[in-house]
Amino acid sequence: MKHRAVKRRNVVIGIGAAAGAAAVGGITLNANASNTRGGSTSGSSGALVFDKDDYTELTETIADAAGKNHEVVYRFYKPRNYVANPSDDTHQSLVVSVPVKIDGKAVDASKAPIVLANAVGAYMPSSVAKATGVGQAQLEMTGMGAMPGGGTPSGIPSGMPNGGTGAINGMVNLAKLAIAAGYVAVEPGTRGRSLTDSSGAYYGTAPAAIVDLKAAVRYIRFNKGRIPGNTDRIVSTGTSAGGAMSALLGASGDSPLYDTYLKEAGAADASDAIFATGAWCPIADLEHADAAYEWNWGANKLSTGKQVDQTVSKELKSQFAEYQASLKLKGMKGFGNLTARNYDEYLLKTYLQPSATKYLAALSGSDRTAYLAKNTFITWSDGKATFTWDDYLTHVGARKKTTPAFDAFDQSAGENNEFGTGTTKARHFTAYSLVNDTTGLTAKRLDSDIPELLRLMNPMYHIAQRHSNRSKHWWIRLGTSDSDTSLTVSANLAAALDNIGDDVDHEYYWDQGHATNTDPGDFITWVAKVTGYKK
Ligand code: DHB
Repeated sequence: MKHRAVKRRNVVIGIGAAAGAAAVGGITLNANASNTRGGSTSGSSGALVFDKDDYTELTETIADAAGKNHEVVYRFYKPRNYVANPSDDTHQSLVVSVPVKIDGKAVDASKAPIVLANAVGAYMPSSVAKATGVGQAQLEMTGMGAMPGGGTPSGIPSGMPNGGTGAINGMVNLAKLAIAAGYVAVEPGTRGRSLTDSSGAYYGTAPAAIVDLKAAVRYIRFNKGRIPGNTDRIVSTGTSAGGAMSALLGASGDSPLYDTYLKEAGAADASDAIFATGAWCPIADLEHADAAYEWNWGANKLSTGKQVDQTVSKELKSQFAEYQASLKLKGMKGFGNLTARNYDEYLLKTYLQPSATKYLAALSGSDRTAYLAKNTFITWSDGKATFTWDDYLTHVGARKKTTPAFDAFDQSAGENNEFGTGTTKARHFTAYSLVNDTTGLTAKRLDSDIPELLRLMNPMYHIAQRHSNRSKHWWIRLGTSDSDTSLTVSANLAAALDNIGDDVDHEYYWDQGHATNTDPGDFITWVAKVTGYKK
């Protein structure tokens, strides 16, 4: 494996002349319509001053979470760089949307929560460079690569369109919902794993996405009083890889670990702490995810009907037992120590059965009877659903990924690319997969920078650090049929946060797959509750 220092600065990708034209004298104003970014490469925070008068007023009909339409008049602040030394103008920029009138009634969002809605997916790049209104962030999927052994493209749930921030599965656009609720929405673009510079070097791999999100938060804080909204009430949202990044952002507030990266990017000199965190199906804890996956889905077959290599699966599963023991976590709601032996019972009692119960209770009598007739593994008694772990696994059916799910032996997983460096596209990040490498590697150890990269990328590491400026309010959601990662990833995240005293709201959506969000209205209400915001 190669190590190569790569100069990552001033690589402008696919934007034409506009970005360069703006890089003058630290002034961030956008001079004309064709120049959609107001970036500067001057390196001083002065370059990052947000011009509060530089907006376009737009009117849009936006449906709230209940499907009711609202006419929203809002100020749209077009794309501008959030770092002074962007290595990539297209991705290191953000847009801001501020409601001023909803259904004809004036709205004052100057003290509203700021929803920072990331559009990260599959650890790929996301961009707002072409956004002309709220909720138009694009996830870029070109060059994503194939999933190891599986038929589905790595990292992206089927049906995940380039649908804008939070519009995964074509349903929920949290930036739009936020402004329809009277909040400020900030949508950042981020670098991602597929990006290469002119020398072929990967510059969007770990930890680029989290560095960018932190820089965006610093930009918001630095512009307190200029960016409308309460900069001490930033609420981050993200789904899947974006959920992992959102959780990491919350857990790592003001960690010094990122300082050199932020400095190199020319991030504003301000805190990167956020107040609250929303994370949907976070694909987090990557270095333990292969083991967790086999603990959870080891017995399930692939959609092709094939069984994965059971030797590998069992070896990984036994690693999970060790890992889980090392975490020393207590389950939420009074459940005792969490171990690989009792985690099935924990998930059933704490999440899966309550989730099925909630789902069934909300059905009409006849729909419930029909559902139960089709799903005889569920016992419905006294208004409660019960079932066994094995029956639940059978009910979910095919596992989405082969084994190992994340650090593929042939380095073909998206996550291998996420740990690429220099001109090396993909690397191993677990000792187990390194040892079992099938690409002809002879290295006996992981590259020496990998442990630090894992710390930079894993919210579990930061939760254990108990940073005082971490987010203290957490909304974590996951579909019960989501086999993109182990159910224990979200559950461990929630338990770890709960165990250090944070306010954690964690639920599972019954029968829902990857990247789903079936209670966005409750999230919007939760934002007001935890931030103490009253209109
Ligand atoms: C995502 C999904 C995955 O299965 C994965 O490994 C990484 C990311 C995603 O949808 O973002």
